[in-house]
Amino acid sequence: MFRHSIRTVLVGLCTLAAASQAVTAAVAADTPTASDQTASVAVRPLNPQTLADLATAMKGEAFAYASYNLFAAQAGREGLSRVAVLFRSTARTELNEHFREAAALAGVVGSNEDNLREAINGESYEHETMYRQFAEQAGTDGDAQAAELFAELAADEGHHRDAYRTALSVLTSGHGAIPAPPRADTVQVPAGPIQVKSARTKANLDTAMHGEALAYAKYMLFAAHARQTGQPALAQLFAGTADVELHEHFAGEAVLAGLVGITKENLRKAIAGERYEATTLYPGFAAQAMAVGDISAARYFRDTAADEARHAAAFQQALDRLR
Ligand SMILES: [Fe+2]
Ligand SMILES: [Fe+2]
Ligand SMILES: [Fe+2]
Ligand SMILES: [Fe+2]
Repeated sequence: MFRHSIRTVLVGLCTLAAASQAVTAAVAADTPTASDQTASVAVRPLNPQTLADLATAMKGEAFAYASYNLFAAQAGREGLSRVAVLFRSTARTELNEHFREAAALAGVVGSNEDNLREAINGESYEHETMYRQFAEQAGTDGDAQAAELFAELAADEGHHRDAYRTALSVLTSGHGAIPAPPRADTVQVPAGPIQVKSARTKANLDTAMHGEALAYAKYMLFAAHARQTGQPALAQLFAGTADVELHEHFAGEAVLAGLVGITKENLRKAIAGERYEATTLYPGFAAQAMAVGDISAARYFRDTAADEARHAAAFQQALDRLR
């Protein structure tokens, strides 16, 4: 699960244009603002509400990325290659632009040690608390398959935590070897109905999928930072774990949640989500950020809203062509 601390943020005494350029440069170079890049600009902490809104944005963007890739695979199964390409390219925008820009503004990436501590906290929470609770609730509610999956994932997250702990001790002590990355057992997610009975299990699946998608997106940023700072084995550990979160954990939950439908349904779902982001969510976040003087964040929310409107229009056009 995602719990970031307020690290250095890029917005400072510099001008709006300079801040915006710096964000763009950080994103383009795959190097979001890092706490070990102390020589950058003066620090002005973001308003807590702006940070919370950026966290919401990151969660939604990571989820959109993960979902659209599954929708693309389904379009491929139906022989709709143009729709598959549209879903895939939109997914890339959600991750490489929208997610990463929000992460850069929020200062999600720190030093390798900071990133490992953040990852250990998330994995510990999922292992010790979240998935155990979800498994117990699913069992109580008669959703045996979900209970079994949640219990399996709880165990996996424990392994992730242990590997990250070992990696952290290697970095801090200078002794030992970074563990080899885990291998993802990729789960296919064809169109299918929801496979759980209880509303509580469904809600827990939704929470879990958002957490897994976010973990994937964050670990990929942590992997890029490790690579750029001369830690290829750590980069592999982050990237391999990210693959498990996405292709095994998120996908396994998506099967039970009935996330993927036939392509027409997937397009309708995507259009509704994009319209909500374009007309309600991001304009609201932009206004809030503007009101507290978080200009770069306001600009990010406004620009992202415009992108989402374009995504909605492109999906609508694709749907119209299928009729
Ligand atoms: Fe987006
Ligand atoms: Fe994990
Ligand atoms: Fe996971
Ligand atoms: Fe979008």
